[in-house]
Amino acid sequence: GKSGYDHYMLKEIHEQPTAVRQCLRERVAELERSISVESLESLAVPEQVQFVACGTSYHAALYGAQMLRQRGISATAFLASEYDTDAVPVDSETLVIGVTQSGETADTMGALRSANSAGSTTLAVTNVVGSSAARECDHVMYVRAGPEIGVAATKTFVSQQIALVLVASALTGEYDSQLVSALRDLPGKLQTVLDESQAREIAAEFSDAGAYFFIGRGHNAPVALEGALKMKEITYKHAEGFAAGELKHGPLALVTGETPVFALVTAGSKPTKTLGNVKEVQTRGAPVVAVTDGCSDVEQYADHVLEIPASHPALAPILGNVQLQLVSYWVAHELERSIDKPRNLAKSVTVE
Ligand code: M6R
Repeated sequence: GKSGYDHYMLKEIHEQPTAVRQCLRERVAELERSISVESLESLAVPEQVQFVACGTSYHAALYGAQMLRQRGISATAFLASEYDTDAVPVDSETLVIGVTQSGETADTMGALRSANSAGSTTLAVTNVVGSSAARECDHVMYVRAGPEIGVAATKTFVSQQIALVLVASALTGEYDSQLVSALRDLPGKLQTVLDESQAREIAAEFSDAGAYFFIGRGHNAPVALEGALKMKEITYKHAEGFAAGELKHGPLALVTGETPVFALVTAGSKPTKTLGNVKEVQTRGAPVVAVTDGCSDVEQYADHVLEIPASHPALAPILGNVQLQLVSYWVAHELERSIDKPRNLAKSVTVE
């Protein structure tokens, strides 16, 4: 059941602290100073990594690719539906990682099958034990989010992000004690966001907006895309997400007083540059909602602030994402949408 929540989506948003704990369990050994992922122990450091995924899982893949590149491994995220058409070079030195909550998405399965035929090593990062992706791939890592009923992916996104941080660390043998202690503290900080979020008030203020924009830089860029996808999916409103620097290359023409801009501004993701982008949209009269850990002066410029606790630069976007999930949820609630089963969408998309 929904444990007293109006919708599965809200229940699953609240299950994120638990989802993170489950994903970390027995994979991070603080005493031994090691991070290990079952079934990856035998893998050599790959020459290159390619991610294939769709929708929210693609946003997790974009983040996963950043985690690998940061550790010196060449990594790219591909939309699974484009992977074959794009004639992506893939060989036996390539590790192809399919990120898929259900493990049944036809586009992702197609891309994984072609990677396997090309002789690459494949890894499924999935939530569903024994799913098609788990069976297709040479290696499998379960994200352990627990069943997700809402069509909108929420807790599985955070679990995928954590899983990919662990994959990146395990593949490179890196043990970063600051990151590990931040991972340990993350469930508590997620809980703080859930307990103290002002997202419902923000949603009430902006539920009649014509369109919503989301911007973020670096690790916040995939979350900006995810914020917009969630907003479209459950509110049926126009929303777009951009890497913050792209705004001035075209989309800025759409920014008016009727289009609230959600800006993710966190330590470690070039906050002062993003602040510059915030000023650009404010000049056009757009109301700005900053999702921030207070790392820069953004509070002074933004019209509204959704606060998140300070964290590790790689984990701040995970906290920011919760605020965006809640804003979308409460806008959809205000508009009385069919939140758990949005029109035209299915939980798992088994056609190409
Ligand atoms: O099961 P998968 O992770 O492969 O699904 C991929 C997408 O269909 C999925 O993430 C979709 O974008 C969600 N409904 C977004 O909330």
